[in-house]
Amino acid sequence: MPGLISYLLIALITIMPLVASAALPSRHIDYSSLHCPEDPLATLATPTYGTEGAIFTVCTELVIAAAPAAVYAAVLDFRSYARWNTFVVDVALPNNISSTPDDVYVGMPMRFTSRGLLGDLFNATSTEVVSLLESPGAAATSSSLVGAWRYNDGVGGIGSRAEHPNVFVDLGNRSTRYVSYETYYAGLTTGTIALLREQLQDQWDVQARDLKSYVESL
Ligand SMILES: *[C@@H]1O[C@H](CO)[C@@H](O)[C@H](O)[C@H]1NC(C)=O
Ligand SMILES: *[C@@H]1O[C@H](CO)[C@@H](O)[C@H](O)[C@H]1NC(C)=O
Ligand SMILES: *[C@@H]1O[C@H](CO)[C@@H](O)[C@H](O)[C@H]1NC(C)=O
Repeated sequence: MPGLISYLLIALITIMPLVASAALPSRHIDYSSLHCPEDPLATLATPTYGTEGAIFTVCTELVIAAAPAAVYAAVLDFRSYARWNTFVVDVALPNNISSTPDDVYVGMPMRFTSRGLLGDLFNATSTEVVSLLESPGAAATSSSLVGAWRYNDGVGGIGSRAEHPNVFVDLGNRSTRYVSYETYYAGLTTGTIALLREQLQDQWDVQARDLKSYVESL
C-alpha cells in the first residue's frame, strides 16, 4: 500500500504541471470554425487539456432550428435532462443548486448517470466538473457560445482525463450549428474506455438528436 501511495504521489507530481500548463488553451480554440473531424483517428483540442496526449474524440454535429442561446440554455439545464436525454438520464447536483442553467458555475461538480454504455442492464456513473461557460451575455460579440465539463477521476487525472465541450455556432437564421465532442487523453484506465468507444459514439449521436427534438419542440 505505501508503494501504491508513493507511486500515485509521484504520478501526481509528474502530471500536475501538465494540468496547470494546459489551463490556457481555451483562448486558442477557434470554436466558431470547429467541426467534427472526418478522419476517425483525428482528435479535437479541449479547453482544459489542449491536444497533448489525446487518444480519441467522439463527436456529433448537427443543425438545430433554434437560437444559440436557447440551445446553450437547454444543454446547461441539467435538472431537465430526464425530460429529453435518453443517454444521460440523471444528473446529481450540489445541494445549493436549485435552478439550472441559472445556478451553474465553473467548478460545479456533477454526477452523471448514463444508459446504454454497458448494455441495458447497467447504468454507468461518472463524476464531472463544469470547466467552461461562455454565457450569452459574455459572448454577445462573438458568433459562438461554449459550455464544457471535464471528467473527474478523483485522482488528479492519472486514471483518465476527458473533456466534453458543447459548441453553439450562430448560423444567423435562428439556427444553431451544434458540435458536441469529448476527447479522451492517455491515462491508466484509458484502455478500458477506448473499448467502449463505439457505444460512446452511438450514444453521443443519440444524445444530440434527443437535444434537437427537445429544443425544436419548446
Ligand atoms: C453553491 O456553492 C458553490 C461552492 O461553495 C458556490 O461557488 C456557488 O456560488 C453556490 N451557488 C449558489 C446558487 O448558492
Ligand atoms: C438507470 O437510471 C435511471 C435513472 O436514475 C433509472 O430510472 C433506471 O432504473 C436505472 N437503470 C438501471 C438498470 O439501474
Ligand atoms: C439556416 O441555415 C443553415 C445553413 O445554411 C441551414 O442548414 C438551416 O436549415 C437554416 N435554418 C432555417 C430554419 O432555415
